[in-house]
Amino acid sequence: MYKYFAYRRINTVVAVQTKELLCKEFLAKPQKMLIDGKFVDAQSGKTFTTVNPATEEVLAHIPEGSKADIDMAVKAARKAFEQGPWRTLSAAKRGHLLYKFADLIEKHADELAQIETLDNGKPIKESRYVDVVQTMETFRYYAGWCTKLEGETTNVNNDFFTYTLREPIGVVGQIIPWNFPMLMAAWKLGPALACGNTLVLKPAEQTPLSALRLAQLAMEAGFPDGVINVVTGFGPNSAGEALASHMDVDKVAFTGEDKTGKEILKASLGNLKRVSLELGGKAPNIVFADADIDAAVKGAITGIFFNQGQVCCAGSRLFLEKSIHDEFLTKLNERINKMRQGNGMDEKTHIGPQVSREHLDKILSYIDIAKSEGAKVLCSGSTPSEMKQGYFVKPTVFEGVNNNMRIAQEEVFGPVLAVIPFSGIDDVVEQANAVRFGLSGAVWTRDVKKAHRLAGRIKAGTVWINCYNTFDPAMPFGGYKMSGYGRELGKHSIELYSNIKSVWLNLSE
Ligand code: NAI
Ligand code: MG
Repeated sequence: MYKYFAYRRINTVVAVQTKELLCKEFLAKPQKMLIDGKFVDAQSGKTFTTVNPATEEVLAHIPEGSKADIDMAVKAARKAFEQGPWRTLSAAKRGHLLYKFADLIEKHADELAQIETLDNGKPIKESRYVDVVQTMETFRYYAGWCTKLEGETTNVNNDFFTYTLREPIGVVGQIIPWNFPMLMAAWKLGPALACGNTLVLKPAEQTPLSALRLAQLAMEAGFPDGVINVVTGFGPNSAGEALASHMDVDKVAFTGEDKTGKEILKASLGNLKRVSLELGGKAPNIVFADADIDAAVKGAITGIFFNQGQVCCAGSRLFLEKSIHDEFLTKLNERINKMRQGNGMDEKTHIGPQVSREHLDKILSYIDIAKSEGAKVLCSGSTPSEMKQGYFVKPTVFEGVNNNMRIAQEEVFGPVLAVIPFSGIDDVVEQANAVRFGLSGAVWTRDVKKAHRLAGRIKAGTVWINCYNTFDPAMPFGGYKMSGYGRELGKHSIELYSNIKSVWLNLSE
């Protein structure tokens, strides 16, 4: 499965496979938030628990940050931005810090991978070879950007010397979800720090551990106090909302559910802070009869079952050209039957548990909805009986789906695939685009012209041709339509985290 991920391209050596629990020491110590360079409890003294979704055991007690803690963190970030050594640090030194941070992540790669798998449930191989590798490579990519940020000079007329400056925005609030806890932190922190902002990160309540470990490594790398603050807690009426609505936060970046995105946008109105949103998806994964079918079957598996389907760009609608429909589903079913489901810490696991009981229930309810809408179950459909504990749901495929059904229109965010037959390019383009999301899509064909035509016609921020879920820090990612706005990664994320200032100097006598 991993051959579809960009990690192969990266020559970084990480991860000796180890049976030793390297994160034991980290888990044994009391968990603290990072505010103004200090590791602290919530001011209220309250905590909440984070559980291992494979066993339902409590992993740790986490400080329950609230408005008071957000206020303190924003104040620290403001001070670090206006007065701290961060502002006067040379671009090269900012870059060095980001490189050092990435090196520390590499040094602790196995420990971080274990933390991620225990907290989120994802297979350890994915944590190790996708999440950790992409995390450190994202920091390295943005470390390089520090010294490449530029303004421009323009020739307005001879009476003026006119130029632009690229400046940091200021204090940035970043709210992230639980599906890629560490990687989403990297996508947010990397460009924000490269541009010279200071920030407050609010990880998801389901998976706060890797962000807290990253906070420790950031301090070890030597970031000045207050530049990076991490406040753990909940969303509505809590830390998340306080951050999104804070009058002294200059920008908020959010990844998560579209409904929450709207709440963030509303909360931002008070001071009209800048907002970037990366929301849901319902991606069309389109297979033409002239495709390499075996490769497309693997791509369909990666598209929907990677990370237990908890991926915003998951290929959750599989469009099959009618002539290959039955052959494709037979092959797909064969491969699904070979997938091993279990505890993510087991090296042999392909598919782990869902992140939480609440999320599992949501997925199971969508399976019921699909059945009641008349979709036919090709395989599975309920929690495997052999899984006594944990939030497991078997890989599920529905055939005979109509693109108007809820199972084809709404984001399930689980290992649930909707298969829809099609007959020709215009038909599939129309159906692919008939959805409110537009984050990604994929096309499988050997016809190069058809592939490029489709890439142009699919309304989505990313189109994969004969591959799925490939990522690289240099390639932008973001949505059309209700999948959000703004592009993360690549040079485009620099736009999200910097302001352009025009300077006019009067030269006239
Ligand atoms: P969510 O989008 O509500 O939560 C994501 C983050 O936002 C968390 O850190 C949360 O604490 C914070 N948050 C929630 N409400 C907030 C508010 N009013 N103000 C500020 N921050 C707030 O996602 P949730 O509730 O964990 O999952 C609900 C559904 O969203 C899932 O079942 C899934 O379908 C979808 N989802 C989509 C993701 C994506 O990347 N597209 C990621 C996570 C969930
Ligand atoms: Mg929510």
